[in-house]
Amino acid sequence: MEFTAIILAAGKGTRMRSSLPKPLHRVGGHPMLGWSIDAARMAGTTRTIAVLAPDSGEIQKWLDDTAIAIQEEQLGTGNAVAAARDAVGQDDGIAIVMFADTPLVRADSISAIVGKVADDAAIAVAAFEPADPTGYGRLVQGRDGSIESIVEHREATDAQQRIGLCNGGIMAARTPLLFDLLDQVTNDNAKGEYYLTDIVALASAGGHRVAHMVIDETEILGVNDRVDLAAAEAALQSRLRTTAMQAGVTMVAPDTVFIAADAVIEPDVIIEPHVVIGGGCHIGEGSIIRAFSHLEGTHLGACCIIGPYARLRPGTEAGDGVKVGNFVEIKKTKLGAGAKANHLTYLGDATIGSKANIGAGTITCNYDGFGKHETLIGDGAFIGSNTALVAPVKIGARAIIGAGSTITRDVGPDNIAVERAHTSEREGAAAKFRETRQNKVTPTKTKPRS
Ligand code: UD1
Ligand code: CA
Repeated sequence: MEFTAIILAAGKGTRMRSSLPKPLHRVGGHPMLGWSIDAARMAGTTRTIAVLAPDSGEIQKWLDDTAIAIQEEQLGTGNAVAAARDAVGQDDGIAIVMFADTPLVRADSISAIVGKVADDAAIAVAAFEPADPTGYGRLVQGRDGSIESIVEHREATDAQQRIGLCNGGIMAARTPLLFDLLDQVTNDNAKGEYYLTDIVALASAGGHRVAHMVIDETEILGVNDRVDLAAAEAALQSRLRTTAMQAGVTMVAPDTVFIAADAVIEPDVIIEPHVVIGGGCHIGEGSIIRAFSHLEGTHLGACCIIGPYARLRPGTEAGDGVKVGNFVEIKKTKLGAGAKANHLTYLGDATIGSKANIGAGTITCNYDGFGKHETLIGDGAFIGSNTALVAPVKIGARAIIGAGSTITRDVGPDNIAVERAHTSEREGAAAKFRETRQNKVTPTKTKPRS
């Protein structure tokens, strides 16, 4: 089924109170406009046109190959669709209008709405029945159930305000009819705007059938301010967690887990409470992510154990069975299968061989204030606690580094390197020291009160 998607993103978004354009605010780590574009693409759109305001450079920079149309002045949703006329060109197919502020719409719903026009409706509208319909346009139905008009909340009579069936904002129509009807829309209303919704009454009066399709409230949730944004995030998180759990992931306390939309989590992963799995993560089968861990741009093999309190930053790539413990930070580092860094460690710009053991307090000193340098640690190497590895530096396979060393040059395979000042021990010195200190201390006098 071929169709064109027209995504409206030119509104001022004033209620967001933000210097960032509303369509670029993120839900699940992905800009809202991106969600609408992706849903249209997944539904099989042949062409996507984003309608933008003239000062939308920031949005245009973010868009890839999506076509754009500029709405010169923000005169309403009807005017915004009309602005896409040239971009649509001569086309007698189906167009679907979507908003950049309803990020949770599913591709299936888009296909279904387009399908209604492909069947026999002139226009099809996505409808929903929100718990609180305040602010939404109401669908006024005729005796046969078809839609006669959409009345905006401000324009609705008391009786119309009692209608629970609302306009979700998504509307599909035959393209020539859509633009014909838009030509007839006026701005004679409460807001002085050209409403897209007015095409419904015009179509119905002209003998065209307007169908509707009820879709789930969470799909159509419109984001007008930051409170709505948080509600959309919560709804998306719940959806992502449910999908993950249904695919075989255990979540001990799902409500406390955050997952970016692009996360791939394989079956039999266990996620403990208060875990953040940010953008670009892949968690291999059977891994355990312990409480309070924060992961971004991380790829884990099978059966890894991470945390509690681990921070894995972008570029962390762990093989199977890697263990990362508490207060360990890792960035741009590869860890071979079975490598361990169990406590209080920073590994950055490093390659750690398989089964290497990184002791507590190990630091790769990767930055000299100017550039980043690499640390290479061979298979099976043992790095003693509190070692500073001053990069660039290479530790050979199976080498052992004594605790407390500061390693500034390469260590060969199978060697032991220790860099440590010799301990001087003076017999009985501690007791003598205390004695002398004690004698020096003058007792504190308490002044008598006068
Ligand atoms: C709109 C609908 C309402 C529906 C609700 C669902 C109209 C007249 N009303 O109201 O029936 O219940 O959505 O969420 O269509 N935009 C432009 N240019 C403009 C104005 C808006 O591109 O001149 C874009 C906005 O960026 C936004 C979308 O259109 O993505 C919707 O605009 P908005 O002002 O949020 O419409 P609502 O008042 O929510
Ligand atoms: Ca809106």
